[in-house]
Amino acid sequence: MARILTGIQSSGNSGEVHLGNILGAILPGIELSKKAENEAFFFIADLHSLTTVKDPAIQKANVYAVAAAWLAFGFDTDKNVFYRQSDVTEVCELTWYLNCFTPFPMLANAHSFKDKSENLSDVNAGLFDYPVLMACDILLYNANFVPVGKDQKQHLEMTRDIASSFNHKYGETFVIPEPLIDEKVMVIPGTDGRKMSKSYNNYINIFLPDKKLRKEVLKIETDSTPMEEPKDPDTCNVFALYRLLATEKAVSAMRENYQGGNYGYGHAKQALFELIVERFQSEREKYWELIENKTKIDELLKQGAEKAKKIAQPVLQKVRSKLGYN
Ligand code: TRP
Repeated sequence: MARILTGIQSSGNSGEVHLGNILGAILPGIELSKKAENEAFFFIADLHSLTTVKDPAIQKANVYAVAAAWLAFGFDTDKNVFYRQSDVTEVCELTWYLNCFTPFPMLANAHSFKDKSENLSDVNAGLFDYPVLMACDILLYNANFVPVGKDQKQHLEMTRDIASSFNHKYGETFVIPEPLIDEKVMVIPGTDGRKMSKSYNNYINIFLPDKKLRKEVLKIETDSTPMEEPKDPDTCNVFALYRLLATEKAVSAMRENYQGGNYGYGHAKQALFELIVERFQSEREKYWELIENKTKIDELLKQGAEKAKKIAQPVLQKVRSKLGYN
């Protein structure tokens, strides 16, 4: 069995999971987790989000939203391990140990730290140390493969470096993980045509109630071609989203509508709204069931944390004894 492990970000102010997260992370992640030869450890990275999220109510709401979304899409928590990072505090202890083996310049050179420290007003030490916590997330569970976006490649390299140098000094301790980087991963366009992202505020949260969801869809930016005139589907943000979700047949029908004229962007938006509601009907229902019954989410996350701790504790003990603490 190969252990596939990944951390799911839960930052942001609103606890919302958007279409980009669903198509880019949730669906492919669930696909990987279903393979008989894989065992998936997927966790909600709520310790990482403390670098930016300081409000406890928001922190909690984000965890529930992310958990409910993965569960609504059918992530199987019996076959796999689904947990909240902060429930397995062993990771904090390992982070201290491995901090003392991480060269300062390695962290100072991290692209993500440079980006974030230029854009955030609160540049705290947690932000700087983010890659070591991430390395510990991975090493604590003997993960073999780590599916991540291209932006996380450098963090994976650091993880491998930290683990190899520790193994070199103290003998085989950590499994050296391989990144699984999907180069062809789709960029999901947002309502303004840029990559869908919370930081651009151009996202569509499919779990919103109908009325609000429709409003979000109506906000998609389009040009001012009048209703009667033909339109170019390939430069339209509405079409770009429609084609990701619709059947081939529906996509060609929509293309013809655009090119034929007498079809307005309002029509296309209404069609996209209806498609989202239809395609994600059962997921939207399950999501709301879970959000209204958070004890169910708590229970599942608690079971996940127990399973995770069983793997984490012996690894941590091994490190402690190698360092002279046992
Ligand atoms: N840093 C990752 C991101 O921004 C999230 C993450 C935290 C992670 N810990 C991890 C991913 C461990 C993979 C493995 O997307």
